[in-house]
Amino acid sequence: MFNPFMLVPCLICLYTVLSMIIPLRVPAAAKLLLALLTLSGIAKLFLLRMTPSGFDIYELPRNIALLLSSMFSFMIAAAIICVIKDAAFVLWKIFARSKFPAHYASLCVLILAAVTTVCGVYGGTRVPDVVRHEVRISGLGKNLDGLKIAMLVDIHVGSVNRRPFVQEVVDKTNALNPDIILIPGDFVDGHVKDRKNDLEPLSQLRANLGVYAVTGNHEYYYDLQGWLKTLSKFGINFLENERVVITSGDSRLVIAGVPDPTGGSRNTPKALENSPANVPVILMDHQPRFSRENAQLGVALQVSGHTHGGQMPVISELIKRFNKGFVRGWYDVDGMKLYVSPGTSQWDGFPIRVFDPSEITLFILKSED
Ligand SMILES: [Fe+2]
Repeated sequence: MFNPFMLVPCLICLYTVLSMIIPLRVPAAAKLLLALLTLSGIAKLFLLRMTPSGFDIYELPRNIALLLSSMFSFMIAAAIICVIKDAAFVLWKIFARSKFPAHYASLCVLILAAVTTVCGVYGGTRVPDVVRHEVRISGLGKNLDGLKIAMLVDIHVGSVNRRPFVQEVVDKTNALNPDIILIPGDFVDGHVKDRKNDLEPLSQLRANLGVYAVTGNHEYYYDLQGWLKTLSKFGINFLENERVVITSGDSRLVIAGVPDPTGGSRNTPKALENSPANVPVILMDHQPRFSRENAQLGVALQVSGHTHGGQMPVISELIKRFNKGFVRGWYDVDGMKLYVSPGTSQWDGFPIRVFDPSEITLFILKSED
């Protein structure tokens, strides 16, 4: 059945064919082949919507899933470059007297989109590097000075990111010898029966003071309760409007977490209720858009993901607008520190990153006093 949601990618596909392929001076058969390749970009979305229960997109062999997702990425990259080309066409019409070189302009779009896709998909599927940040936390006791917190977020295990990727991420994270590991959401795209084995390496995560997590929006698209149970068995402690107090000698730190608003139960005041006075709070909140409210509650540091850093120019500006101006990196929100991670990975339907590398984050906390 046709879903209205599909109309947008269909229109993007049509625009790309009209703007990039039709003006090319190549044989009709070559145009048809290019059009079919561009069209394959939306094939995966149609499979998602048209497939009856029992077989879904996440059971495609990895290489086929990666190929289809790459074609979707190609279509989006080509559409963005086509917009720039068509803007240039309008300016050419206004200011230039010669004929617009439509064939060469379309050829440039095609080559640029192909190069962007190849480099971008490589960037989107590689195991991320570690990015270190020293973070000054006011009120942090001397015994917790130097505390190492590793953060993974938006792992999005699915048809493209499977067990080998998760295993490498886990090994790299453990090699940092973190005291605490935080995972603020978007673990998986898929059902427990299909993806449990791929996530199993998460059970090897080691941190002497614990591994804590909250749900992201994608956890609610599948079997939430099943995933909470499975991930808890892997040693991951979910904070659902809850907090824990980390103690070292006479120094203390609160780690709090709220579930993603998709589930409707998000309640930050409840998570921080009866928090010990004058003890700094680190809050996990999958989406950064509630940071102003969180800052009013005395949070010292909020860590989020969700935006994937925007993944590529132009799209990053749109993502920023949809997330109250937050897309990647550090922000000062009314005195609260906010860190928006670009994510350890991203949704596997669009596995492309251009000038926006994914990361494993390592925070090293420093006392400000
Ligand atoms: Fe995500």
